[in-house]
Amino acid sequence: MVNELRSRGWFGLSGKNGFIHRSWLKNHGTPHEMFDGRPVIGIANSWSELTPCNAHLRQLAEKVKHGVYQASGYPLEFPTMSLGETIMRPTTMLYRNLMSMDVEESIRANPLDGVVLLAGCDKTTPAQLMGAASVDVPSLMVTGGPMLNGKFRGGELGSGTDVWRFSEEVRAGRMSAEDFVDAEACMSRSNGHCMTMGTASTMACLVEALGMQLPGSAAIPAVDARRYTLAEMAGRRIVDMVHEDLRPSDVMVREAFENAIKVNAAIGGSTNAIVHLAALAGRLGVPLEMEDFDVLPRDIPTLVNLMPSGDYLMEDFYYAGGLPAVMRELLDSLHREVITVSGATVEANVGDADCWDQRVIKDFNQPLQPADTGTAVLRGNLAPDGALLKQSAASPALMKHRGPALVFDSIEEYDAAIEDPDLDATADTVLIVRYAGPRGYPGMPEIGNLALPRKLLEQGVQDMVRISDARMSGTSYGTVVLHAAPEAAVGGGLAFVRTGDMVELDVPARTLLLDVGDGELDRRRASWSAPPSPHQRGYAHLYAEHVLQADKGADLDFLVGASGREVPRRPF
Ligand code: FES
Ligand code: MG
Repeated sequence: MVNELRSRGWFGLSGKNGFIHRSWLKNHGTPHEMFDGRPVIGIANSWSELTPCNAHLRQLAEKVKHGVYQASGYPLEFPTMSLGETIMRPTTMLYRNLMSMDVEESIRANPLDGVVLLAGCDKTTPAQLMGAASVDVPSLMVTGGPMLNGKFRGGELGSGTDVWRFSEEVRAGRMSAEDFVDAEACMSRSNGHCMTMGTASTMACLVEALGMQLPGSAAIPAVDARRYTLAEMAGRRIVDMVHEDLRPSDVMVREAFENAIKVNAAIGGSTNAIVHLAALAGRLGVPLEMEDFDVLPRDIPTLVNLMPSGDYLMEDFYYAGGLPAVMRELLDSLHREVITVSGATVEANVGDADCWDQRVIKDFNQPLQPADTGTAVLRGNLAPDGALLKQSAASPALMKHRGPALVFDSIEEYDAAIEDPDLDATADTVLIVRYAGPRGYPGMPEIGNLALPRKLLEQGVQDMVRISDARMSGTSYGTVVLHAAPEAAVGGGLAFVRTGDMVELDVPARTLLLDVGDGELDRRRASWSAPPSPHQRGYAHLYAEHVLQADKGADLDFLVGASGREVPRRPF
C-alpha cells in the first residue's frame, strides 16, 4: 500500500473520536471488523425519481456494494444532487457546477478512500467527474446505461431526435396530435438514459474513452443483466484501485483527453461534450484549447451510425461491439499507452475487440462520414473566442452561406415571432438568438437548434443557418452555430448585430463574420451596456457573477483546479 488510507484518520482513531466515528455507523448494523483498515468506498449516487434517466441507480449501487464486499472493502452509498435534463428549469446546465461542488465536498469531507460514481443523464456525468477530479481520490464511474430502443408502429424511435422531428411534423400538419401523444410511451420503454448518441450516450462513451469507466461499459443497456455484472466488477475494481492509489489525475492526462476528443468525432458525439471536457480539463490542469476539438480529430471519420447523425440506436451499438470496437478501429490514431481504471492501457483494453455489425460501427476505410466532418471551431468578429458547428448534423449546402440577420434578444421573443405568417424571412435569412449564454440566460440552455419559422416550414424549407450563444441538445441536428464566445451578455460580438446586417458563415475557412465595418462596430459597442442580471440572490446570482465563458467550459472561476483530498481541520 502506497499511503495510509485516509479513512484511518477517522476510523483508526482511539479514544472518544474513534468511538464517535465508528459507533454512529454501527447504528445500521455494521460489524466492528469493517473498521479494521479496509478501504472505505463511497458510492456517489445521483439516483432520483426527478431524473428518470437515473431512477434505477439504486439497484445498480447494490451490485457495486456486492463487489466492494467481495474485494474486502467497506461500501457506503451516499446521495448527490441529481439533474434531470427533461424536468429541471431553466436548464440543468445552470446546476452542473453546483452538483460538482456537492460531489467534491461530499467526497472530501467524508472518510472515503475511493469512490464509485453513478451517473447517467446528461449533466450528472460531467458534474460527478468534475467533483471527483477536484478531490483526486481513486475514482471509477459506472454510467447507468441507455434505455432500450424506442419502438413505434413498426419502426424505431430515438430519444430526443424523433421528438424534434415529430413536433415539426405536427406543426407542418403531417402528424396528428393523437399520434404525437401515442409516441410518448413508445419512446421511453425502460430505465436508462437517452438511447440516441445524444449528450448522455456521448458522455458515457467519453468517460470510457478517458479511461474512467471499465472498458465495454458505456453501451450496455440499462436493463441488461450485464450492466449489473459490470457494476459488481466495478465494486471489486475500486478496492484494488485504492490499494494501487490510481487516481483521476493519473488517468485523465492530456493524452486521455486527446483520445476522448478523437472518439467523440468517431461516434458523432454531442457538441455538449466540448463544454464538459473543457471544464473537466480545467479541474485537472490539463491544457485544452478550443482548436483541439477541431484540429485533433480532423483525420477521424464518423464510424458510429447512430441518431442524430445516422440511423441506429444505443442498443444496436452494444450488440455491434460498443465502444471497444470503435476504439480498436481508431487505435492507430489514439495514445495506446494511457492507463485506465481497469489498471491496463487503452491498447490492452481494446486491442482485440470485435465488431459484429458493420452497419452500426463502420470500418475506418468505409466510414459513415468522411474525416473532417466533425466539430468545426469558427472564429471571427461574431465569436472572437470561438463558436461551434457540428458538421455531421448540418446541411452541406449551407456550409458557405451569406445572408441577412434576423435578431432576437430572447428565445421567448423568437418563439412568438416564428409563428407569424408575415415574418420577414426567407430560406437565406440567418436566425440569431442572443443573451442565451452562460451568464445571459443564465445557464446556457439547449435552445440553439431554433425551430424554423412556420411560414418557411410550410414552403418545405428544412434547414437554415441559426446562430446563438446557447447550446443545443445532443440529439438535435441542423446548420446551427452554437457556444458563441464571448456571449452577448458580456459584450461579445453577437451583442452588436442588427437585423438586416449581412452575416457570413464559411465552415471550410472556419470563419463567422458580421459584415459591418470596424468603425461602425466600435460605435455600437460604445453605446452598449450589459443587461442587468435577473437574479440578485441565491445560487443563480453566484453563478452569473462567476461563470466562465463556453470556451473555458462554463465552469465557475473559483472551481477551476483542485483542492486535493486533505481536510485541514477537524472539530474535535
Ligand atoms: Fe436524461 Fe436524455 S434526458 S439522458
Ligand atoms: Mg440531452
